[in-house]
Amino acid sequence: MTESFVVAIDQGTTSTRCIVFDRRGQLVSLAQQEHKQHFPRPGWVEHDAAEIWRNVERLAPRALRRAGIGLDQVAALGIANQRETTVLWDRRNGTPIGRAITWQDTRTDALVHELEGRPEAKEVEHRAGLPLATYFSGPRLQWILDHTPGLRERAERGDVLCGTMETWLIWNLTGGLHVTDVTNASRTMLLDVRSLDWSEESLSFFGIPRAMLPEVRPSIGVFGTATAAFPGVRIGAALGDQQAALFGQTCFTPGEAKCTYGTGSFLLLNTGNELVRSDNGLLSTVAYQIAGEPAAYALEGSIAITGSLVQWFRDQLELISSAPEIETLARTVADNGGCYIVPAFSGLYAPYWRSEARGVIVGLTSYITKGHLARAVLEATAWQTREVVDAMNANSGLTLTTLKVDGGMTADNLLMQMIADVLDVPLVRPLAVETVSLGAAYAAGLAVGYWPDLDGLRRNWHIAGQWMPAMDPVVRSAEYANWRRAVERTFDWIQ
Ligand code: G3P
Repeated sequence: MTESFVVAIDQGTTSTRCIVFDRRGQLVSLAQQEHKQHFPRPGWVEHDAAEIWRNVERLAPRALRRAGIGLDQVAALGIANQRETTVLWDRRNGTPIGRAITWQDTRTDALVHELEGRPEAKEVEHRAGLPLATYFSGPRLQWILDHTPGLRERAERGDVLCGTMETWLIWNLTGGLHVTDVTNASRTMLLDVRSLDWSEESLSFFGIPRAMLPEVRPSIGVFGTATAAFPGVRIGAALGDQQAALFGQTCFTPGEAKCTYGTGSFLLLNTGNELVRSDNGLLSTVAYQIAGEPAAYALEGSIAITGSLVQWFRDQLELISSAPEIETLARTVADNGGCYIVPAFSGLYAPYWRSEARGVIVGLTSYITKGHLARAVLEATAWQTREVVDAMNANSGLTLTTLKVDGGMTADNLLMQMIADVLDVPLVRPLAVETVSLGAAYAAGLAVGYWPDLDGLRRNWHIAGQWMPAMDPVVRSAEYANWRRAVERTFDWIQ
């Protein structure tokens, strides 16, 4: 019998990857392509959806060739994607209308402010499980419809479609299936997060015609069969990338959590079939839904800027020439020298949700060297994690006893030790670092019976790294107080 495999597409913020996995969950081959970031104005961040689809078409044969396998050996295809990024296209010819507006884009700042003042705003937030913020797709979609003459009428007639990136990819893969999954839909502000269907009230709040929206499906279950890029292969799953990482880390039980450290960082705690609401700045989001079963929910702490602060340190300040060098530079000093950096580059996400906040560096003296700044950069990720974990513990009534981590930044051992220190809990990193893709592959494989159940997947999880907390509690609380004072400074900068 010929061996079979599962393929994942990870359509991320900076690049798209196709990864082939075997039955043990091991990576067999990887093909990756970056796409261009468009910054037409300050705060605007766009992607060309057509370029991203072309990349998928190129990556598919490359990944299979590198694995030495044919299409007939692919049991299923799973998709994980950057969430909230919104694209519109013409139903007749599939041509994108303008560029996709990404999750980092803050152009809806004024609109969000206005929406917050409306009497129905609280109900909309409650239904979505999300606070009104520039981060989510709903305000973005309203902005596009408001700023493109004639577009709303075309959308009402059903001539214009919209979606997040998995919707766009599935449309292209299948030649016209217009669907989304519950995890991605839960990031739009348009979904009723309990009924798992679009909310008419929320659609009318944002002025969005229902005809342009995709059908909402469970995340794990066959969506259809690809006719392009992977012709003949069943699409078994689609999930937002952070939910996919939760799945890839096998956090299937309520109380299990992971944090993925990338451009931004996203800590998700599985809360089971119960939707836990937050009164301290966390998101109530869908973790995954297996077809025919109730959805599993998660509480999420989203941090906008972590890895991208290291990129800024490298590209804008030019104090290092490659991202890993930050660890070496930070190790040249014993502490931060009294310096703190709060990277509120486009406001602060969890637990504050203050879009008007702007970044600060405090505590500068002539004693400060670039080594201290490097340390403050890494510490910013650690303290932002601490704030999210504190909110999570308070919200869930559970105390996090260990945190599973993944993502590019987990290669930095100093950072991992800092996080364990400031959280005062151990961190564990799995052997499989590609947790986003692995989660999408697991989900797709489950859908087609390639893997029989969740327990089998759990057995594939193997520990590769562990960091134990080793910070003096007195130092920890003094440093945390300093961090909080620095955060306060970010709020009063812009009037
Ligand atoms: O919510 C945004 C998140 O999905 C982006 O993840 O890994 O593509 O930067 P990433």
